[in-house]
Amino acid sequence: EELEKGGYEHFMLKEIFEQPNSIADSMRGRLDAANGTLTLGGIYEYSQALINARRIIVLACGTSWHSGLVAEYLFEEYCRIPVEVEYASEFRYRNPVIHEGDIVIAISQSGETADTLAAIELAKSKGAIILGIVNVVGSSISRVTHEGAYLHTGPEIGVASTKAFTGQLSVLTMIALSVAHKKGTITQTRYKELLVELARIPAKIKEVLDNNAVVEEIAERFKDAKNFIYLGRGYNFPVALEGALKLKEISYIHAEGYPAAEMKHGPIALIDEEMPVVFIATRDSSYDKVVSNIQEVKARKGVVIAVVTKGDALIPALADYIIEVPPCEEALMPLISVIPLQLLSYHIAVMRGCNVDQPRNLAKSVTVE
Ligand code: G6P
Repeated sequence: EELEKGGYEHFMLKEIFEQPNSIADSMRGRLDAANGTLTLGGIYEYSQALINARRIIVLACGTSWHSGLVAEYLFEEYCRIPVEVEYASEFRYRNPVIHEGDIVIAISQSGETADTLAAIELAKSKGAIILGIVNVVGSSISRVTHEGAYLHTGPEIGVASTKAFTGQLSVLTMIALSVAHKKGTITQTRYKELLVELARIPAKIKEVLDNNAVVEEIAERFKDAKNFIYLGRGYNFPVALEGALKLKEISYIHAEGYPAAEMKHGPIALIDEEMPVVFIATRDSSYDKVVSNIQEVKARKGVVIAVVTKGDALIPALADYIIEVPPCEEALMPLISVIPLQLLSYHIAVMRGCNVDQPRNLAKSVTVE
């Protein structure tokens, strides 16, 4: 086992640090930014059906559900296809409306999650076309789907998902951009820009990982906190959910992820000098709105930890702690902005003496409903 950890103290840390490579692996043979091409060989027979889809239903659980939320933003923005992101466990028990030929994208790291599998079978029985986004080759879900794309990120051992999440984002982004391009809902220039940016993601993740010591210091300061709130808007909203989930899973600190504006409808009541609030506040189209949300938290004496774009001067002046990430296209930012949150939860859990790779009560794949 020590050998498999490759010198890292835990699988989770190894998997976090593997991400520049695992993301590159997920793009290998698919993305050719220099020539402006994307090839998803696994989606072939149904690629036209996907392009013509009147709506897409995403089915997943846990972290995979969070990548589904990012996919919703991507497919709606670039492909102009409405997307519904469903918890598999809810979808399967509520007599959902499924039409013959509907496109379902099922996302699962393990390919064995019982609820996701059952939800797929239900949709399939009603005539839906099922595309799988799966990591484990030959897994149950990969076998029942019509077509799909593997992540190619390699085995993930830590129970808390890290490199599979970014692998899912990478593959979903490639699919969305490829559909948008074929459909003509993106300009050639934007398409090429985004492909070039996608190719730069591994290097940008590496830059974030080089900041590990900064995150570790912040972890030291907050390791005894009882609660955390994570806030983000737009593409960074699912990242807020994922950051909160990571912290809960491995450190057992209660954490809530929320859309930053929705904070006013509840979580704001929790804010006092004891409450750390993590803002994913990178430079994007909702930047100004997020700045006001930070001011609202500061006005109530909350302690703000902000993930900001390198070079930002405004938020560092407002926040108590900052973690810088390199500038990046808004739609691809979740691939970058989630990294410091993975590190933060990892360090806090280690400092609290938790079993990071095998947290209590959790399983890597939930094969019972
Ligand atoms: C479990 C794991 C999570 C994972 C979820 C969905 O809860 O602990 O890390 O996100 O299942 O798993 P899947 O394999 O379907 O992505």
